Amino acid sequence: MTRHRIAGIDDLPEGEMAKYDVGGRTICLANVKGVGFRAIDDRCTHEDESLSEGFLCGEDVECPAHGSRFSFLTGEVSGLPATMPVRVYEVSVDDGSVYVDLAVDAPSSAA
Ligand code: FES
Repeated sequence: MTRHRIAGIDDLPEGEMAKYDVGGRTICLANVKGVGFRAIDDRCTHEDESLSEGFLCGEDVECPAHGSRFSFLTGEVSGLPATMPVRVYEVSVDDGSVYVDLAVDAPSSAA
C-alpha cells in the first residue's frame, strides 16, 4: 500500500502548506493557489532544513534557512543556493481527502 491519506481537503486552505509524517516520510503538502494540492519531500536539498517551515511563494517554496526555492510542480530548483531538486509525489483528491502516493513520482507534465 503506497497511497496514504495525508489530510482532509479542508485542513489546508488555499495558499498554505504544512508538514505531514506519512509512511515513514516527511512530506510538505501545499494547496497552491489556482493549482491545487501538491506534495514534495520536506527536506531542503541544500542543508536539510524543513521546507514546510519556509514560505509559499506562488508555485514555489522558499527555504527558511538560506532562501533556496523549489517548484511544487516539478521539484526543480528555482532559486539558489540549492542545486539538487526535491522529490515530487503524485497527489490525488478523493471523497474529501487528500492522498499521496509515495511510490509514484508526479509526472513532469504537471508543470
Ligand atoms: S538549508 Fe535550505 S537553503 Fe540552505
